[in-house]
This record gives sequence, structure tokens and C-alpha cells, in this order.
Amino acid sequence: MEGPRSPRETELPQVLDFLNKKLRSEAPWSIAAEYPTAFTPNNLHNMRIIADEERVLSHAVLKPLIIKSPHVIYKVAAIGSVVTDDQHRGQGLSTTVIKDCLRSAQEQSCDIAILWTDLFDFYRRMGFELAGSEISFVIEDNFNMPVSNLSFSTDSKIAPDAIYRLYSQHSVNSVRSIEETRKFLSIPQTQIYTAWEPNGQLAAYAIEGKGIDLGGYIHEWGGSTSKLLSLLSFIRAKKGTPFTIICPKHSQNLIRELETRHVTKNSGFLGMIKIVNFEQLSAKIKRAFRAEGVADFVLEKQGDHFVFGIGQDLYTITHETDMVRLLFGPIDYRAIGIFKEETVAKFEKIMPLNLWVWGWDSI
Ligand SMILES: CC(C)(COP(=O)(O)OP(=O)(O)OC[C@H]1O[C@@H](n2cnc3c(N)ncnc32)[C@H](O)[C@@H]1OP(=O)(O)O)[C@@H](O)C(=O)NCCC(=O)NCCS
Repeated sequence: MEGPRSPRETELPQVLDFLNKKLRSEAPWSIAAEYPTAFTPNNLHNMRIIADEERVLSHAVLKPLIIKSPHVIYKVAAIGSVVTDDQHRGQGLSTTVIKDCLRSAQEQSCDIAILWTDLFDFYRRMGFELAGSEISFVIEDNFNMPVSNLSFSTDSKIAPDAIYRLYSQHSVNSVRSIEETRKFLSIPQTQIYTAWEPNGQLAAYAIEGKGIDLGGYIHEWGGSTSKLLSLLSFIRAKKGTPFTIICPKHSQNLIRELETRHVTKNSGFLGMIKIVNFEQLSAKIKRAFRAEGVADFVLEKQGDHFVFGIGQDLYTITHETDMVRLLFGPIDYRAIGIFKEETVAKFEKIMPLNLWVWGWDSI
């Protein structure tokens, strides 16, 4: 048995064959079509396998994302397609592969690692914790919008630059190229909804489904709140059944508007997060506070624990997993009642940190 190591370029088909058999046995397409930026020859160095002579036994892939937000630019390691051959489970292979991905993420100066799973306890053993926020709304019923001059389409043949232009206007988004947007647009099992201005300019878009995942979920969208709402109204009427839209917590206008409609609101976590470069992340957060006029923000690691607070209002945080929930949410500073009101007011200038990963970037 050898590895964990990156596959050689000639081994990529064999690795994809292993993943397709283990994770996409029902799908007529390759997993590479669902994650077109992760399973490419130029991301081979971020794939990890353990192999036995000619066979792949265990795998995980890492995709580094640069995520811009108003206060901090993060480097985030998204980890996915974690799987071990059935006959070799329970021998520590996945744990070894994931730890190697984390080591590589650290070497590549990622601040945090993130993954999406329902195996919470398996990943907690490696220091991941559910953190960050995600708000979803089930659009239960048709709703009317004031008559507009928008026209709507479900045609999937759409220029990536138009989507890219609206995508770039998000306050929190990953750095993507138009070429990457083109690849995302051709992911199988994707429904694309668009709203157009009379002059032919794209006014809003909404993307539902992503391969075997996210059917019935709008996981990428863009455009101003009113135009997006008009598009959602069109989608609800067109589908004739409820669907869900996933939103970042900072999309306050959209959230307020949706709350006035017949919807079911659910609050969840962004994903399972682990800090991989504490000093680097802490320096970025301190810089962001200084830019907001808060020079005495404290976030230090002392041995196994953390000292966290502002000025003299400091607390010791024993577990890194609590630290992750303080930084990215969902812990509410006011509700925990340990900090003074003036400290909370300063925290709220940038915390919880706005972190969001749009659906196409999840792996
Ligand atoms: C989950 C999976 C990747 C683990 O691979 P593995 O090589 O057996 O993992 P390891 O040997 O490193 O760790 C196994 C440990 O995880 C635990 N574990 C396995 N599945 C688990 C689950 N569903 N929930 C919690 N713990 C789990 C095992 O009990 C074992 O614990 P032990 O060492 O105390 O006995 C493997 O079972 C698999 O490929 N499953 C199908 C694909 C999948 O679900 N992938 C996860 C996608 S996020």
C-alpha cells in the first residue's frame, strides 16, 4: 500500500473510475462533470490517493478557493469526494488522506478548510465543527410581484460573461474566471433560470441542481433583490411545486423580502470548518478590526487555548471548535452574555465574519 500521494496524470482516468463506481454508481455522467474545477489535470497536485499496486483504495480532493468579503480575503480549502474502498474501511485510510489534505492546505496558506457532509462525528475527530450560517427558504406558494418589463427564460444556452457580471457584484464570492463559469454552466442536472431587461441585459439568474446533488435547491443566484424576487415568482409559477433557495445570512434585503411571503425559513450551518493557519487568520481579522478603528482586538493562541476579546474584556476559549463558531457564527455574542455591551458593539463591526461559499464551489 502506498500514499497518500497525488495521482500521476496517467492515473487520472483510473481515479475517476474509482470515484464514479463508489460515489456515482447511478449516474450516467462522470463525477468530473460535477466538479469541473476540482478534477482537472491542473488540480492533480490537490488530489490524494492511497493505492494498492494497481488499485485506488482511498481518495480525497482539495480545491483551494480565494473568497473575497468586505473585511477579509480568505484562502479556503474545500475538501470533497472522500471515499475508501468497501474492503479497506476502518483501517484509518480516510483519516490519513484527509490529514494529508489538511497538511497541504496549510502549506498552500489556506486559512481554513471546509467540507459538506452528514458524517459529523467522523470529521469532528479531525477537528472540524459545524459553523458559519446558511439560511434557506422553501417557497411554498406562488407570489405576485409588481408588473415589470422583465422577460424570463429557462434556456440553458447563456453566455457565461452575463452570469459572471452579476456574480461579481456579490459582496462575498470566490475568485472565478469566465471560463470556470462556462464549465459550471454545463454541469449535468442543472436548471438555469434567467430574467432579462428589454435591452437584452441579464437582470437576474438562479441555478437549480448540481449533478446528483441540490435538486430542487437554488444554490447560485444573482441580480438585485427586486429582479431576483421577480425571477423567483416566475420559477414558482413555472414549477407548480415548492422549491428552496439557499442564501447567505448577510443577504439581509432578500431575507427580509422573502420573510413577508408564504415561505418556510430554515437556519443551518455553512459547513464543517477547521482552522488550518491560525496565526495568518488571526492577523487578517486584526487588520480588519484596525481598519474599523478597533486597535485593541485580541485573538491569541496560548498553548492549547485561545485568548479572545477586546481591550481588557478578554476570555479564554478552550476548544478550537468553539473559536470557529465564535469567528464564523452561529454563536451570538450578545446571547452568551459574557462580554460587555460595548465589547459586543465593537465585535459586531465585523463579526461574525461574513463567509459564504456559493453552490458551484462546494465539492
Ligand atoms: C466514511 C468513509 C470515507 C471512512 O473511510 P475509512 O477509510 O473507513 O475511515 P477511517 O478508517 O479513517 O476511519 C474510520 C472510522 O470512522 C468511523 N466512521 C465511519 N463511518 C462513519 C459514520 N458514518 N459516522 C461516524 N463515524 C464513521 C468508523 O467507525 C471508524 O472509527 P474507528 O476507527 O473508531 O473504528 C468510508 O466509510 C466511505 O468511503 N464511505 C462511503 C462514502 C462516504 O460516505 N464518504 C463521505 C463523504 S463526506
